[in-house]
Amino acid sequence: MRIGPYALPNTLAVAPMAGVTDRPFRQLCKRLGAGYAVSEMVGSDPRLRHTAKSRRRIDHAGEVAPIAVQIAGADPAMLADAARYNADLGAQIIDINMGCPAKKVCNVFAGSALLEDEALVARILEAVVKAVEVPVTLKIRTGPCPERRNALSIARIAEAAGVQMLAIHGRTRACAFRGQAEYATIAEVKSRARIPVIANGDVETPEEAKRVLEATGADGIMVGRAAQGRPWLFREIAHFLATGTSAAPAPLAEIRAVLLEHLEGLYALYGEEQGTRVARKHIGWTVRALPGGEEFRCAAVRIDSAVAQHAAVNDYFSRLAA
Ligand SMILES: Cc1cc2nc3c(=O)[nH]c(=O)nc-3n(C[C@H](O)[C@H](O)[C@H](O)COP(=O)(O)O)c2cc1C
Repeated sequence: MRIGPYALPNTLAVAPMAGVTDRPFRQLCKRLGAGYAVSEMVGSDPRLRHTAKSRRRIDHAGEVAPIAVQIAGADPAMLADAARYNADLGAQIIDINMGCPAKKVCNVFAGSALLEDEALVARILEAVVKAVEVPVTLKIRTGPCPERRNALSIARIAEAAGVQMLAIHGRTRACAFRGQAEYATIAEVKSRARIPVIANGDVETPEEAKRVLEATGADGIMVGRAAQGRPWLFREIAHFLATGTSAAPAPLAEIRAVLLEHLEGLYALYGEEQGTRVARKHIGWTVRALPGGEEFRCAAVRIDSAVAQHAAVNDYFSRLAA
């Protein structure tokens, strides 16, 4: 699959997740089998550009191309300006968030709330595509609510505006994260779209990835929550799609090495205090399925120095290996 000049190594994407898919996590996912990663969303309001959070989110040092940055907002001119600003800072692809149902985003009529206003969607997409030389992609849900699944109409608007790829989460805005993702709407959009379509929602295993690809005919799969604490999932999906057989589970030694590398990346990006806090959830996700994982997670959340956290994780894996 291509997005503009970028031929992706495969069509497995890690979904943008604010607070999760920071640079260290995206780098791990890409190294462990994801062909594509999109940054956490960056607000389009220029007044927020200099906050520590925004500065971290625009730091792409060492990231494997293509560097895709997601922008969020509702004002066409502001989004166009944010696209230009991020392209100038190294974004090679600009992704627009029209998929997030979070209150913080939707209360200001951004994210998936935009799907209700197709005229505004058109104005935003036209303004952003015109503002930058780099490819622009779009992430949406299937519509505002189950009674109004307008993803096809949005896809047509996107194509007409020059958007080069569409990722669709198979839920409506009103569904938030409830119920099951549905893939029929994604299949319908894919069957009529001229641009690549990536299917997203509830893919947890390599087998599900294959089923969703077959059910939708999509060009690729985007995985979010199932990759938390499990960035090698992309390698397992790639293996299953290529061979029809399951890959051997990630060895304990690799899980340990990946987690320790992840912790170091978080300390370096956030600094010790915040890095240790951010690391807690990743430790919890990684160990949840391992023996004594829950007990270790409960103990590990009380640790607040990087050295002690790193050592505790190391010791936990040494005990497991023994
Ligand atoms: C913690 C969290 C943060 C998210 N942040 C974003 C975001 O910044 N931008 C976005 O487009 N979607 C965001 N999403 C939605 C995901 O990209 C994805 O569409 C959704 O989780 C469904 O995929 P999954 O079932 O594979 O998790 C977020 C989801 C989660 C769970």
